[in-house]
Amino acid sequence: MLHWLNAGLRDGRARRLESEFPSALFGGDVSAACERHVLVREGESAASHCLVRSIEVEALERQIDLGMIGMVYTDPAFRGRGAARIAIEAGVERLRKLGASVAVLWSDLDSFYNRLGFHRAGIENFYVVDRELCRRAGFGEDDRIEVRSAEAQDWFELEVLYASKPARHIRAPGELRRLAAAPACETRVATRDERVTAYASMGRGDDLSGVIHEWAGDAAGVGSCIDSFARERDEVIVLEGPVHERATVGLRRAGARPNPGSFGLMKILDVDRLWEQLTESADALRDMRLTRSPYSDAEFVFETPGRRYPLSPASALSLLFGPALPRTLALRLDPTTRNAIGRHLPWPLFIWGFDSI
Ligand SMILES: CC(C)(COP(=O)(O)OP(=O)(O)OC[C@H]1O[C@@H](n2cnc3c(N)ncnc32)[C@H](O)[C@@H]1OP(=O)(O)O)[C@@H](O)C(=O)NCCC(=O)NCCS
Repeated sequence: MLHWLNAGLRDGRARRLESEFPSALFGGDVSAACERHVLVREGESAASHCLVRSIEVEALERQIDLGMIGMVYTDPAFRGRGAARIAIEAGVERLRKLGASVAVLWSDLDSFYNRLGFHRAGIENFYVVDRELCRRAGFGEDDRIEVRSAEAQDWFELEVLYASKPARHIRAPGELRRLAAAPACETRVATRDERVTAYASMGRGDDLSGVIHEWAGDAAGVGSCIDSFARERDEVIVLEGPVHERATVGLRRAGARPNPGSFGLMKILDVDRLWEQLTESADALRDMRLTRSPYSDAEFVFETPGRRYPLSPASALSLLFGPALPRTLALRLDPTTRNAIGRHLPWPLFIWGFDSI
């Protein structure tokens, strides 16, 4: 099956997907790894495939189970017959069984996925950075900071730095090192007085070329790592989640603009659980609830004491994960309720490039 997927998705390069996605393909035991593949057959032939896995994501001291879908592929001989639709629908059901409360995938086939109930939601920012911008931001100017490639003894400390990200995937020990071994990926660390203070990783397999898609640590160290990558190219892209971090303050002060985009195409799988996970101990939201519409499984209702507001799937996602409180809702809510919601939502969902499939 991996041979077939490498032929279709990676121009036949042997073991390419395996080297790009070690956790998604091989994390956990063998049966867990096999369970992640959804394969649609026509007779004896493999027609369509998708990979699904559920991961724990944390932000603001709350966790959700995020279902991810990737490696969607239909063999050319079987395209246009609904095989991918069947694979995705089966993948969604499997994610539900695994306990995921929301699913995400990355694609530009919006209309195809809209029809399957996926909608753009969430927030990510990217910055276009060149040497001149680094100079204006003062990146790389501190002589006490040295930048070098990551070495075997660094990974434990890099995992500790990653754990302090405002939104992140809860990874297994040793996972970062395995992920960073992907082809066309380079990780640089910044040290000060021989102590590792920051790191940044650029590139991962066929995706994210020229993109610094994961970084952590103190602002000056991250700045020095970004500068060292920017010195070797015309420009690099720095990816950031919905929470602006200190490391990018310097970039914005130097004139860089965060280019906002959506996090991914998403679908709510278990709205009751998701609402509970996101609003646990949020007193201001105690009397509010997002729930399925009693009239249609695909629609939602937002309830405040005495009022009910119907929401489309896209609006429900926007309320929970951004980019913003849906306009139809914002215009109808009283200011106190709007402010209460604004204190807790949208929840800053984000996972970094290494974890995306
Ligand atoms: C995208 C892909 C998985 C679709 O597989 P498929 O089995 O042919 O898809 P289905 O038959 O289930 O669905 C076909 C529907 O998707 C639409 N669709 C399929 N490929 C499309 C494309 N490249 N662009 C736009 N729409 C597309 C079709 O118009 C069709 O719409 P319809 O239901 O109104 O007829 C397949 O073309 C493929 O493997 N492409 C290469 C790999 C790839 O791009 N994967 C990434 C997807 S995230």
